[in-house]
Amino acid sequence: MSNLPTKNQKLIEWVEQITQLCTPDAVHWCDGSQEEYDALCQKMVESGTFIKLNPEKRPGCYLSRSNPGDVARVEDRTFICTTKKEDAGPTNNWMDPQEMKAILKAHFKGAMRGRTLYVIPFSMGPLGSHIAQIGVEITDSPYVVANMRIMTRMGQKVLDVLGEDGYFVPCLHSVGAPLEPGQKDVAWPCDKDNKYIVHFPEENTIVSYGSGYGGNALLGKKCLALRIATNMARREGWLAEHMLILGAESPEGEKTYVAAAFPSACGKTNFAMLIPPESFKGWKIWTVGDDIAWIKPGKDGRFYAINPEAGFFGVAPGTSEKSNYNAMASVRSNTIFTNVALTDDGDVWWEGMTKEAPAHLIDWQGNDWTPGCGRPAAHPNSRFTAPTQQCPTISPEWDNPNGVPISAFIFGGRMGTTMPLVFQAFNWNHGVYLAATVGSEKTAAAAGKIGEVRRDPFAMLPFCGYNMGDYFAHWLNMGRKHHIPVPIFRVNWFLKKDGQFLWPGFGENMRVLKWIIDRVHGRAHAVESPLGYMPTYADIDWEGLDITREQFNELMTIDKAAWKQEILSQEQLMVLLSERLPQEIRMERQMLLCRINRSENVWTPPVEK
Ligand code: OXD
Ligand code: MN
Repeated sequence: MSNLPTKNQKLIEWVEQITQLCTPDAVHWCDGSQEEYDALCQKMVESGTFIKLNPEKRPGCYLSRSNPGDVARVEDRTFICTTKKEDAGPTNNWMDPQEMKAILKAHFKGAMRGRTLYVIPFSMGPLGSHIAQIGVEITDSPYVVANMRIMTRMGQKVLDVLGEDGYFVPCLHSVGAPLEPGQKDVAWPCDKDNKYIVHFPEENTIVSYGSGYGGNALLGKKCLALRIATNMARREGWLAEHMLILGAESPEGEKTYVAAAFPSACGKTNFAMLIPPESFKGWKIWTVGDDIAWIKPGKDGRFYAINPEAGFFGVAPGTSEKSNYNAMASVRSNTIFTNVALTDDGDVWWEGMTKEAPAHLIDWQGNDWTPGCGRPAAHPNSRFTAPTQQCPTISPEWDNPNGVPISAFIFGGRMGTTMPLVFQAFNWNHGVYLAATVGSEKTAAAAGKIGEVRRDPFAMLPFCGYNMGDYFAHWLNMGRKHHIPVPIFRVNWFLKKDGQFLWPGFGENMRVLKWIIDRVHGRAHAVESPLGYMPTYADIDWEGLDITREQFNELMTIDKAAWKQEILSQEQLMVLLSERLPQEIRMERQMLLCRINRSENVWTPPVEK
């Protein structure tokens, strides 16, 4: 006992209690050192969990292949356990906390037999920042330890900040695959029949059982930094959001930080690492974070944001030197790849990485693969885990404990029709309504039917740890309380016509961002449309891009019939949340309906005089 690396009694007792329950063969307190990481990786190479990639091509990189039944977040097995069901709300799975604890206890009894129990102290956010939180994850998965070392600030330095009486969020995880004496382990242990990702927001605790994949198992990310943190944020008056944070620096050196929310796998990482088109000489985009933002009001009335993470857990397919040069640079070394394909020379490949696929690969399930064989080589939700600091555009402010001041909130979904390229909310409440009604076509980040449009309020549907109606009310309150209102924008990069994208996206999104930045600083012109303030053709910088006024109009059209249908289809969300839906949201919807009813059948931005 005396040589434990902490004197925090609560932590020591909790580890002891879990050790007794789970009966692991050994207990390892992670110090977070390079030696520890290297030794763990080596052990995983020997056990078959990791394949070491060619050090000349990908130094310090490993490939892992998951069990085919454990490839994404399991939203239908994710629970918010509050005393009252209404507090979890209709968008979350709920179970009574005592009932759930009994189920979990039965699963965890002896769950780590034959394995090592790892204790991972981690900080979400810069060490010691007033916006950061400390968590401790107990896991029996060395894969989780290695990933957590990239995704968070982890190890002894966190225990030092925690001290004897510091507060931490206990996060318990097991892959749920105990080993009998002499039983040979598999490369990716999990429990294929029982998965539970459980949050107890009233006690700030997390328990995850049965899965080793991504957000199900790396508990600092979606579980702590979103589901538990949304509860903390509501109680304490701040915001925990599914948002990237970027800083745009003008040629004159003016830096403007924005936070943007998009549903999973809608190009958040691409936007966070955007490279401006050549015609935007002197402009620079700085990446602060690509997935999560914790935002606290400062004494000056502005919102300050930190990225609580220290790594990228990005979707690999579609990422290329062309689509996201900075992401590709971030994964050149010291990266863990999961469920991508292996090349014959020991490198990785995924769909969209190069125009032409290699002639032969080993696919994500370990089978031979050739182009045209009818199967994807990489799983559509395959991932890279890479240190934030390896991104060439990482902001010098990314580790600033005080965060960066946010000048705009941007919300977007993946919508093939109806939703124009960009517009600005008339005011805070209108912006909250726009964010609350985000709809998006489903992607591979979660299990389910791909392509189907689902409402994803604030891109937080799977991540808000309490009643979504109360969450809207919290946002409305934050606007009321903080006198420097942050302008809110909606964007849609995904409009299609005849199956083709109308907007080139990627770096060209800079043109939209530039208009947003100029609006924020009171420099850009806009017209009032039924949906909000919109740029006209002349308000956007088109130098170097061939977009005609007609094409722009297609991107900015407000189709009356489609919008009536859109407003009507929001009824489902309103009914679902009706018990706690703030009046302001209903009113904004009514006002939008009135504006749409009065508008022409097809509205396009007016021609400037
Ligand atoms: C993610 C997600 O992994 O949103 O970031 O699913
Ligand atoms: Mn995400």
